[in-house]
Amino acid sequence: MNQDLLQAARNAMGKAYAPYSNFSVGASIRSTGGNIYSGCNVENAAYPQGCCAEASAISAMIGAGERQISELCVIGPGDALVTPCGGCRQKIREFANDNTPIHICGPEGLRRTLTLAELLPLSFGPENLDTVRGNQS
Ligand code: THU
Repeated sequence: MNQDLLQAARNAMGKAYAPYSNFSVGASIRSTGGNIYSGCNVENAAYPQGCCAEASAISAMIGAGERQISELCVIGPGDALVTPCGGCRQKIREFANDNTPIHICGPEGLRRTLTLAELLPLSFGPENLDTVRGNQS
């Protein structure tokens, strides 16, 4: 992974709003257009309304008019791998494919790179809807 992607995720982690979990996460996306989009987790006093870093980064990419993730980086604290939550794996799936690299980082740097298929095998995606005859979406 190139350091520019890691740096973007690290910068975003520094902006996290995580007063309830005290667990700041940053995420960054390199789009197929070659641009970097980043985001952080944004928690809420109404706990379920919080937003993950990956979802924030995806929103930034979509808001800029891009639709394809070429690689994604997540960085968080602690000794365990900060892998995207189940919901975020599905959100990433919408704009990525089985081979898309997901870089998992800790404060010291890259810990592991996994493909989206490793994180979300046999996933359901937009193409599933195309296989239904008469479905126009
Ligand atoms: N979180 C993320 O933003 N991304 C992940 O990959 C794992 C978890 C956030 C959600 C919540 O704000 C905090 O980390 C603790 O779960």
